[in-house]
Amino acid sequence: MKVSVIGLGYLGATHAVAMAKSGHQVIGIEPNPEKVAMLQSGRAGFFEPGLDQALAEQIAAGRLTFQIAHDESSRLVDVHFICVGTPQTKGSLAADTSYLHAAISDLAPYLREDALVAGKSTVPVGTAAILTKELGAATGFSEPNLAWNPEFLREGTALEDSLRPDRLVVGVTNKRSEELLRQVFEPMIASGIPFLVTDLATAELVKAAANAFLATKISFINAMAEIAEVSGADASQLAKAIGYDERIGNKFLRNGVGFGGGCLPKDIRALMARAEELGVGESVAYLKEIDKINIRRRDRVIALLESELGSLSEKRILILGAAFKPDSDDIRDSPALEIALLAQKAGAEVIVHDPVSLPGVLIKHPELSVQEDLTKAFESVDAVVLATEWKEYRDLDPQMVSVLTANKLIIDGRNVLDVAKWQQAGFRVLALGRTIQN
Ligand code: UDX
Repeated sequence: MKVSVIGLGYLGATHAVAMAKSGHQVIGIEPNPEKVAMLQSGRAGFFEPGLDQALAEQIAAGRLTFQIAHDESSRLVDVHFICVGTPQTKGSLAADTSYLHAAISDLAPYLREDALVAGKSTVPVGTAAILTKELGAATGFSEPNLAWNPEFLREGTALEDSLRPDRLVVGVTNKRSEELLRQVFEPMIASGIPFLVTDLATAELVKAAANAFLATKISFINAMAEIAEVSGADASQLAKAIGYDERIGNKFLRNGVGFGGGCLPKDIRALMARAEELGVGESVAYLKEIDKINIRRRDRVIALLESELGSLSEKRILILGAAFKPDSDDIRDSPALEIALLAQKAGAEVIVHDPVSLPGVLIKHPELSVQEDLTKAFESVDAVVLATEWKEYRDLDPQMVSVLTANKLIIDGRNVLDVAKWQQAGFRVLALGRTIQN
């Protein structure tokens, strides 16, 4: 089939590659000419394992091209996927849907009446119905084909998640839209991936609900961590114990510095804002607490540092990690970066290390000092905070590190270190959600 992918950020670039790998002829549309040039050279422009290689392969196979705007070639397209961003609006919890409206008006003059527009962006419930009306007005079609097909990919495993999702959800208003989506996802459906057909509102809400549930699981275990810290219990053992109950499950129960990134924090806030608009704000008022528990974990790290070092003024603190999770260079709403900024605000001299995201850190936070060389980063520090669980931090040799650091103190913000090994190398080890005897 002929497919277009509009908006080539994390979601769009990955989806474009996934569609090309599924055998479709794909046009990627992105207004930023520099980004288009980069994509054409086979680079997505962000760190995502395996994506650049797959991108280059699909370009070489002639299945994937990029352009800055629609032209006559868009008229040949059967399914247009809209993948533009819906960031948090400045000064409000709500999502900014302006890029979606712009995408619809740019596409309208080139849309065939029998083609389908399928939104993939995460949106406030009710957005697709508004966009359908806008599309009808702009094209003159009495029943424009507009569907919603939320994407559940995770950064770090984005391509794999796009090609082999747990489920496909399509919100449609007519049979034609469903048929086109069945055709476009045929290889995935044939491999046994569940294909759920719903109305527009349900499909939109599925995504918000999934992310709210995931955020709730993480903040739930972090709330237990707060209780564990003052009662002598161990939140990681607790998570393991409750996780054996299949009704609870053991995934997304890792306690630590909390969730961040471009999705979970903004999506729970957007859901609160939308529920409020719809007059049912109380239904998800608890998400405010989920957000607060998450933010408090960052403060807890500073409190631990202060309990060990006294005032942080002129103390040299190394933050291991800046990305919001490993295998990503995304620093949006990153707990690691927030901890670095909080420590700096408390007077510390902060050094940030991250295997891939330091260029982005320097652009967004030029006030922070970064060190690319992990060995040098440890020199003369008073404390180390492991804030993002990159493999190279988990694999660190404590004996080697102990030779480099002045004051042997490490805070495990992700509960991934072998405490006994670090203690044997002379370190005091502190962690979130448990009290360690040093
Ligand atoms: C998330 C959703 O998982 C995905 O389905 C959706 O499409 C986009 O948002 P992503 O933002 O890539 O994906 O990251 P995810 O793996 O969900 O992790 C989010 C945050 O939660 C990270 O900061 C991670 O470190 C943290 N986390 C995750 C925990 O603190 N504990 C856990 O047990 C799991």
